[in-house]
Amino acid sequence: MDRLPLRTLGACAALLIGVTVGPVFASGALAWLLTLSVSAALTLLAWLLLDWWSLRKLARWVAAGDDREAPRGSGPVGELGYRIERAMRALAGRTLAEQRRLAQFLSAIEASPNGVLLLDAQDHIQWLNGVAAQHFGLDGLRDREQRITNLVRSPDFVAHLQSGRFDDSITFPSPQGDALLHVLVRRYGEDSKLVLSQDITERERSDTMRRDFVANVSHEIRSPLTVLAGFVETLATLPLTEAERSRVLVLMQQQTQRMQNLVTDLLALARLEAAPRPPADAWVDVAALLKHVESDAMASDGGRHALEVDFGGGGAVNGDETELFSAVWNLVSNALRYTPQGGQVRVAFVRREDGSAEFSVADSGVGIAKEHIPRLTERFYRIDSSRSRETGGTGLGLAIVKHVVQRHGGTLQVDSVPGKGSTFRILLPAQRVRAPLAETAVPSRALS
Ligand SMILES: Nc1ncnc2c1ncn2[C@@H]1O[C@H](COP(=O)(O)OP(=O)(O)OP(=O)(O)O)[C@@H](O)[C@H]1O
Ligand SMILES: [Mg+2]
Repeated sequence: MDRLPLRTLGACAALLIGVTVGPVFASGALAWLLTLSVSAALTLLAWLLLDWWSLRKLARWVAAGDDREAPRGSGPVGELGYRIERAMRALAGRTLAEQRRLAQFLSAIEASPNGVLLLDAQDHIQWLNGVAAQHFGLDGLRDREQRITNLVRSPDFVAHLQSGRFDDSITFPSPQGDALLHVLVRRYGEDSKLVLSQDITERERSDTMRRDFVANVSHEIRSPLTVLAGFVETLATLPLTEAERSRVLVLMQQQTQRMQNLVTDLLALARLEAAPRPPADAWVDVAALLKHVESDAMASDGGRHALEVDFGGGGAVNGDETELFSAVWNLVSNALRYTPQGGQVRVAFVRREDGSAEFSVADSGVGIAKEHIPRLTERFYRIDSSRSRETGGTGLGLAIVKHVVQRHGGTLQVDSVPGKGSTFRILLPAQRVRAPLAETAVPSRALS
């Protein structure tokens, strides 16, 4: 029932009691005075009781803190309830908005490619994202409130945290030892710490590769240059006979050729790295490609080896003709170079049942020991550098082959037995191989 009728009802009841009680205990004007006093006192009491009752309900509602509406009431208590309810709803709305913002903020940090870890003043973990958990080998839930130096025991990291000086970043191997971490610590709030971590394994690897590459190129160029400088000095200072002079010039030409080969191969690699993917709509005729390889091989070999080329029924492969030629040619020139005179070199193309195909180059040459095979495609890697240099090799040929093969979605396979020979295979996936038109054409219906 609404409070207003209740209050009216209370006042009426108080008046009734006053009217009944007044004349019983007094008469005349005194009776009226008594009636009014009793009625007023009882009305006040009834109203106070009602307010006390409403206050009690309001206090219970506030203590429960649930979503129900505040108890409705009239007068100041009703007004108070209404205002408290409004304030509580506004607060709940603000808290919810804050919670949403915090969740959004945390999920943004969670999506960061870097590790983010929050520590309190005593280096206890307060929060960390998944990347930090992975970098430091921590568990996002289990390890909260743990002191980080008890869990991440890398001496460099512990010493850095304990030093309290965080101007510089540090680099150390991850606790699992599979990555190199770059870590930056910053203070925030009341002596809390923000730890940012980044996996720089790849960056470090490519920096090392670049340094090695520059050192290798310099070394490769310096050697022929030193030899050339020596010859130039000989020509300038020594009185040589005509025969000696022409011998020196031949040797100088060899060194120049070596430098030219190196620059050509380096440029080929650079082009391969920068070039867009080979065209998807260009088809290279296998028979024509292998004929070209065969004629170049015969010209450069001068009959020193028994060379056999098998077109395997021909067909076409999808990709860049110059790149594919250079890949097959590199393998064939290696086979000729690393097979003693009188040996055999066999080049073949085979289309397989599943639609894929392979170019293979097999030789009966010196072969390659097992431990060298995984490193053959590294730039400047040579098993026997003196023999390779003797034959003008730069050690870049197989790096070029691997690049070309990868750009064409294929793989390079090497099988070799030292002393017996090697087989290099370029495997191309079915979608890059087409049978000769004669095989794929639909037979035309015979005219009757
Ligand atoms: N068919 C092969 N038989 C034996 N060893 C081989 C054969 N092919 C390659 N190798 C070894 O692998 C090394 C790397 O070959 P790669 O073709 O990359 O360089 P290269 O032949 O020395 O120089 P180039 O850059 O002129 O090709 C060679 O130095 C050689 O030792
Ligand atoms: Mg080679």
